[in-house]
Amino acid sequence: MMSPMRRRVMVEKCICHDVPFTRIVEWAQGRDTPTEAQVREAFGCGSSCGMCRNYIRRVLETGLTSIELMVPDHEEKTP
Ligand code: FES
Repeated sequence: MMSPMRRRVMVEKCICHDVPFTRIVEWAQGRDTPTEAQVREAFGCGSSCGMCRNYIRRVLETGLTSIELMVPDHEEKTP
C-alpha cells in the first residue's frame, strides 16, 4: 500500500504581528540566550493568537528562519 503524500508547509513569520523569523534572528544576534518572552516583549509575537510561540522557540534554538508546520499527533493520524 502506498503511503499518502505529505505536503511540506513551512512557517516563516508571526502572522498576527507580521514579523518574519529573519527579523527575529537578526535581533537575537549578539544577545545572550534570548527567550521567547523577550521576543514577545520586543515584537508582540506570541501575545495575540499565540500560535507562533513554539516556532519562535525553535527559531531561537536553531537560528532557522523557515520551520516546518508543527502538527499535533492526533491530526497526523487522521486518514
Ligand atoms: S502568529 Fe504570532 S501571535 Fe499569532
